[in-house]
Amino acid sequence: MRSLLAGITPEDTSAALNMSLGEPQHQVPSFVTDILHDQRASYNKYPPVQGTEAWQQAVSGWLIRRNGLSAGMVGSENLVPLNGSREGLFSIGLVAIGRQKNGQIPLVLSPNPFYQPYAGAAQSAGAETLYFSGDAALDGMPDYASLPEDVLRRTALAFICNPSNPEGGLASRDYLAQMVGLARKYDFTLVGDECYSEIYDDKPPVGLLDVCAELVRRGLGNSDNPFQNVVVFNSLSKRSNLAGLRSGFMAGDPDIVRETLRMRTYGGAPLPLPVQAASAAAWNDEAHVEANRALYRRKFDLAERYLGGKFDFTRPAGGFCLWLKVGDGEKACRELWRAAGIKCLPGVYLARPDADGHNVGMPYIRLVLVHDEKLLEPALEKIAITL
Ligand SMILES: Cc1ncc(COP(=O)(O)O)c(C=O)c1O
Repeated sequence: MRSLLAGITPEDTSAALNMSLGEPQHQVPSFVTDILHDQRASYNKYPPVQGTEAWQQAVSGWLIRRNGLSAGMVGSENLVPLNGSREGLFSIGLVAIGRQKNGQIPLVLSPNPFYQPYAGAAQSAGAETLYFSGDAALDGMPDYASLPEDVLRRTALAFICNPSNPEGGLASRDYLAQMVGLARKYDFTLVGDECYSEIYDDKPPVGLLDVCAELVRRGLGNSDNPFQNVVVFNSLSKRSNLAGLRSGFMAGDPDIVRETLRMRTYGGAPLPLPVQAASAAAWNDEAHVEANRALYRRKFDLAERYLGGKFDFTRPAGGFCLWLKVGDGEKACRELWRAAGIKCLPGVYLARPDADGHNVGMPYIRLVLVHDEKLLEPALEKIAITL
């Protein structure tokens, strides 16, 4: 990014804004910082890797409410506290990928464009990655079910990002159920990266755990292990504007959870006790999340007002990114920086080229709607004029 913009001096900085970094700028909930302060005496203690009881109860309670699960369906055996979801999305590769899968080099399935730790998970475990562009007929989700048998038999791990980043699409219930079925049939770990799940426009994204529970109700799952082969990741970074707290979790299949906790016992950093206490309070509160969502909706309105009808604009169904088709993403980024001091990310940086060398991200730029309206509106106006 630095080299892309090197040597270019913005001509006008009246609407300058960094719209390249997905770091929420809304307010940190004050009750969270109060708890961090009040609990400071416990910084002298080593925290439990599996989380305190209060943390476990808060997260399992939230997962049960959010996914419409029956009471008791999520407990400590289903949960791993994480220092944000990124580290878990990376290290899941070390747990879920063996040296071989059915006698061959294991394979990881990833959407394309994708969140970079998915590639790290595969590489660190010696697996190969198959990148899959979104399918319009599947709300932009990757059609892993279309893969041939021999490829699926080699698959050790598959990622689904829902809402998708950067496109902002939502996976349907049927699609998710099909992916769960595939994971079980071919015995691979299905990962749901749900870190944008609480930022949506009119319809809450369906969670993978919800779908697993539904499969059991329909007699299609294993009632002894409803989340078999499935784990989801979520965090307070986007939901609660707490990216710097580094607090998230993995939840799902107890076998995968057990292995992950075992690994973390040797090499993981547990969440400090004040962080666990503050996180528990954040998961127990929805008022600040609703207020946060309302702010994003107003910004979706603004984006639609200035960019609607241009660059294949779609109002994000979930998440806070705009994925604009501008022709040549790198050129557009340089142009926005030169004309207005606005930083965005070329789509090509978020995707991998296919076998023919074609990168699906090339024509796009990604803009994040993380700043408040006062900063955002002039920048959006400038983008509409400049590109
Ligand atoms: C798609 C996606 N997944 C996961 C994360 C990880 O967030 P965190 O580690 O803050 O929970 C991010 C952060 O930007 C993201 O964009």
